[in-house]
Amino acid sequence: MGLETSILPAGQAGAEAAARTLAAGGLVAFPTETVYGLGADAANAAAITHLYAAKGRPAFNPLIAHVADLAAARRIGRFDACALKLAEAFWPGPLTLVVPKTDHCPVSDLATAGLDTVAIRMPAHPVAEAILRAFGGAVVAPSANISGHVSPTLAAHVASDLAGRIDLIIDGGPVAVGVESTIVGCFEAPTLLRPGGLSRERIEAVLGLPLARPPVETESDDSQPLAPGMMASHYAPRAQVRLDARDVAPDEALLAFGPDRLPGQEATAAVMNLSPTADLDEAAANLFGYLRALDAKAPRAIAVMTIPEEGLGEAINDRLRRAAVAR
Ligand code: TXA
Ligand code: MG
Repeated sequence: MGLETSILPAGQAGAEAAARTLAAGGLVAFPTETVYGLGADAANAAAITHLYAAKGRPAFNPLIAHVADLAAARRIGRFDACALKLAEAFWPGPLTLVVPKTDHCPVSDLATAGLDTVAIRMPAHPVAEAILRAFGGAVVAPSANISGHVSPTLAAHVASDLAGRIDLIIDGGPVAVGVESTIVGCFEAPTLLRPGGLSRERIEAVLGLPLARPPVETESDDSQPLAPGMMASHYAPRAQVRLDARDVAPDEALLAFGPDRLPGQEATAAVMNLSPTADLDEAAANLFGYLRALDAKAPRAIAVMTIPEEGLGEAINDRLRRAAVAR
């Protein structure tokens, strides 16, 4: 799109520049605790149109509105007892709540893709919070990557996908969590729409009941999708991804986890270990950066060791399964 993309360090001047750019209808990438987001003024339809174009994102896939406090969230969405309980327990933090829109919801219909619900989150990152406060309104922000690519956990990842397509990148260093927020639909039964940076176990402990699973959607189903962005073949590196590897070939890269070694590992040029001590939080923080780094070596495939399906392992495995879908 031929834009000149500025990169500024996080700080007061950066937050003010970000707020001015957002107010002028521009696109600003900034760090959150989960991944870098690409922000636009949630009330500005033209800015949101540019945002979808910059990412190459299909218009039917709605965005998350980011807010600095609960009062701002409640101007956008209607919070029932369950939504309030979750917001109070986990905000600010890596949890997105899908709730019914308010009657005078300031978020543009373009950002909610015509749904009567809206996804809202209060990020726990000082840079995101400073930008939201300086701007003063809600900011819609998908992950700051080209649609279908791996989400960015460093400003450099954002630049490699979006330089020339957005106005500003605020560099706040590496993110802490490394996978996107967990999305819970506050429907009759609270529903896990996307596993993410807050584990299912912690949410269920607060709710005192298990999260429901989203109904299975079929290709031919033309009803409104509950989590429209959760299609297969997202989060895809260029290389093929092979899960639950028990061995590794010389022309494959290895994404390892834990202290074990696999047969063939010595002969492989590229090995990165998500967490040598098998710590799932550390593995989540390393996941997208390591996928990008291994992919850059252009291996025939990336073999991935088995990762336990507990804690943040559920989100890690979700992203890896999407990355493994053949294209
Ligand atoms: O951690 C995160 O959530 C990051 C940071 C930047 O906040 N954002 C993020 O946004 O991951 P994005 O756009 O990459 O993913 C948002 C997901 C999509 O799967 C979208 O379909 C879903 O949220 N979503 C948005 N509005 C929804 C709604 N009303 N109902 C159901 N799903 C919704
Ligand atoms: Mg995304």
